Amino acid sequence: MNQFESLSRRAIQAPESGIVAVVNHGRLKAGLIPLWAGEGDEKTPDFIARPAAEALLAGETFYTWQRGIPELRQALADYHGRLFGRQLPLDAFCVTGSGMQAIKIAIEAVVNPGDEVIQITPAWPNFAAALGMSGGISVAAPLDYVEGSWSLDPDRLAAAITPKTRAIFFNSPSNPTGWTATPEDLTAVLELARKHGLWIIADEIYTRFFYAGGRAPSFMDIMDEDDRIIFVNTFSKNWSMTGWRVGWIVAPPSIIQVLENSVQYQTSGVPQFMQKGALAALEYGDAYLETQITKASAARDLFCDALTGTNRVVTQKPDGAFYAFFRIDGISDTKAAAIDIVDRVGVGLAPGTAFDKGGETFFRACFLRRLDHIEDAAGRLADYISSL
Ligand SMILES: Cc1ncc(COP(=O)(O)O)c(C=O)c1O
Repeated sequence: MNQFESLSRRAIQAPESGIVAVVNHGRLKAGLIPLWAGEGDEKTPDFIARPAAEALLAGETFYTWQRGIPELRQALADYHGRLFGRQLPLDAFCVTGSGMQAIKIAIEAVVNPGDEVIQITPAWPNFAAALGMSGGISVAAPLDYVEGSWSLDPDRLAAAITPKTRAIFFNSPSNPTGWTATPEDLTAVLELARKHGLWIIADEIYTRFFYAGGRAPSFMDIMDEDDRIIFVNTFSKNWSMTGWRVGWIVAPPSIIQVLENSVQYQTSGVPQFMQKGALAALEYGDAYLETQITKASAARDLFCDALTGTNRVVTQKPDGAFYAFFRIDGISDTKAAAIDIVDRVGVGLAPGTAFDKGGETFFRACFLRRLDHIEDAAGRLADYISSL
């Protein structure tokens, strides 16, 4: 047995990201417009970076609260109060090292090896991969797709439930489709969870990027105190902080200590100076976030209109998140095509093969960028499409 073969089965089986092969191919290409990753093009604003830098220089470099400094948890409670009209206690919050780590902690809290978790697909790949590393099994419940529009069939979700099901991972607004659950969808899912005693891992990280105005419908609107819901969230997307790796969880106070223990044995907490930056994002970041939503909304219109204008793409403007998810007539091997698109017109797209059942023949493009770049990228794609 060589070194590789003697690793654990779970480690070996964890898949490489389906986007990475395309990124590695195109990363160094001059003039490339990268729309493949789930992030915007702006660095973190100074009003967030400065307090973090100052705290670092001031020596806030010691071990700190595992579940997050009280000021940050208070600011999170206030933020949730403002956004959802729900006043939650401080011990409903746990600060984490990214949204990804929040997901990992939620999985560890509710899933035993061999348990099944249902997720809506097409889906961002990391949940299923992280679940697999914890010995859980991901079960796909595909959305319906008609003429560019996605919808949830709650009966299909119900049909995926087996005696081994422990939880539903529910991402709305969705990466990659932009599909956003209606209040009726959320009620149907919550009723299913209640009926079968399932946990819901609610990934509502894109809730602010909702183009009908306001925020997206949330389980926060309909849940009771004794519902089994763990909300995973992140500072990454709202405040241009993807590289910071800071997120948070909202959960019933009765389980927060268990989640905090998980933080202890993974990272032992988020650096205190970074928490000071996160605090500034919550306290002073509303206006900045509005600029991001306005920017995303204009980019969405520009990009989607340009694609549909080719008459070779059928897509509808997504209701939420900041991705266009579209098919190009005549292309079925999206991984090979994504590489070809990099080579020929210098646009970086994520191939749909990365996004689980139902997404294979699509491409995903993140449009949270300067409008001139989005216009340029859409024009290059139109040229590519007309050359086919
Ligand atoms: C649906 C969804 N959930 C969670 C995350 C995790 O975000 P992060 O780990 O950057 O905080 C992402 C990032 O792309 C995402 O798209």
